[in-house]
Amino acid sequence: MLNRREVLGILGATAVLPPLAWAERTGTLAETQAASGARTGGLIEEVLCGTQPAMPPDALYTRDPEAYWAELRKQWIFRPGFLYLNNGTNGSCPRPILRAYIESILKEEQMESTEDSELYPLWGYGNWDVYRKPVADFVGAKVEEIALVRNATEGLNYIANGLDLKPGDEVIYTDEEHGSGKSPWLLKQKRYGVVVREVTLPKPPASKQQILDLFEAARTPRTKVVMASHITTMTGCVLPAREICDWARQNYLLSFIDGAHVIGQFPINLHEIGCDFYITTPHKWLLSPKGIGVLYIREGASDQLWNTIATGGWDDYKSHAARLMQFGSTSVCILAGLVAAIDFWKTVGPDRIERRIRELHAYAKAKLGAQPGAVMISGPGTEFTAGICSVEFPGFDRPKFQQ
Ligand SMILES: Cc1ncc(COP(=O)(O)O)c(C=O)c1O
Repeated sequence: MLNRREVLGILGATAVLPPLAWAERTGTLAETQAASGARTGGLIEEVLCGTQPAMPPDALYTRDPEAYWAELRKQWIFRPGFLYLNNGTNGSCPRPILRAYIESILKEEQMESTEDSELYPLWGYGNWDVYRKPVADFVGAKVEEIALVRNATEGLNYIANGLDLKPGDEVIYTDEEHGSGKSPWLLKQKRYGVVVREVTLPKPPASKQQILDLFEAARTPRTKVVMASHITTMTGCVLPAREICDWARQNYLLSFIDGAHVIGQFPINLHEIGCDFYITTPHKWLLSPKGIGVLYIREGASDQLWNTIATGGWDDYKSHAARLMQFGSTSVCILAGLVAAIDFWKTVGPDRIERRIRELHAYAKAKLGAQPGAVMISGPGTEFTAGICSVEFPGFDRPKFQQ
């Protein structure tokens, strides 16, 4: 059986932009610095003060892409040699994003940025278009269609709880939905008699049509909603979100796409996907501060949603999606980091990022797939894959490996 070091060895130290699923850790940056006697102040002084590494120039990418990525790594505050491979849970913020986030905290804690001293700029009251607008532009939506919430789980619950369904009404989702995707519907099933139908996805799928046929086979006259991940949490399979939403519309079903893993991996245009609802989480692949969900509610679809959390403005239907971002006091500084994350992504460049993610996926797939006993779950080619590479080693003791 492979141990953690051997797996990292197979992948090689060069396969290291963010993705995949483990971290090799022998001490934090601070511990390492303290041990070497280098630690003189707090982490703010050590990490963010002094000369910061410059972003690598575009010309370097043109000349030598590997050198570009190696240079870009300096934007992260990892200890030299540290491998972080778990963007699927949480990405690490690079320096410009940390800076914007921390600057916002330092500014807001002076308590002078609004005229009303009662109003520390709290996210959780108000519409915050200054932050919603760049996000809406980034995902191909109108500002009124975006609610900034605290994570994907919250958005997934808001939609499942918010829709009026009768006992016997049916919801279709896939076996590969995250626990936060399935559980709100299972709760609704137990509490209100809504029926959940789970479609088992092939691993990997052979074609888009094969997936659509499975949804169609699960549809009945009582089906009201279809929910599917854009990239599944279990195997990293990229599902045909647009085709699923087309099929849902043709059959008068509401469509809800869980795109938790999508923002930051590849560009999205929600109007083109044509869903009624979409949730995505920038703290994974877009590298924003932790604790943000971007919930999209198609114009016209917000009126049929009840709020899960109610405070002043809960029934202000004119505010569309913003009604669902009134949830009580939270710091707005995270959102300053979100806008910086969008800027960082644009600076590096969407094409480059997507190409790099796909290259590293192909590299991991080739290396891991060649190991004795490996059963590759990720599909061949690029149609159903992105940053997550899924491979099984039957008999492998995963919890032990993760320790
Ligand atoms: C597909 C999917 N949906 C939802 C979630 C929940 O995300 P969060 O912890 O941000 O609520 C995850 C977490 O990994 C996920 O992979």
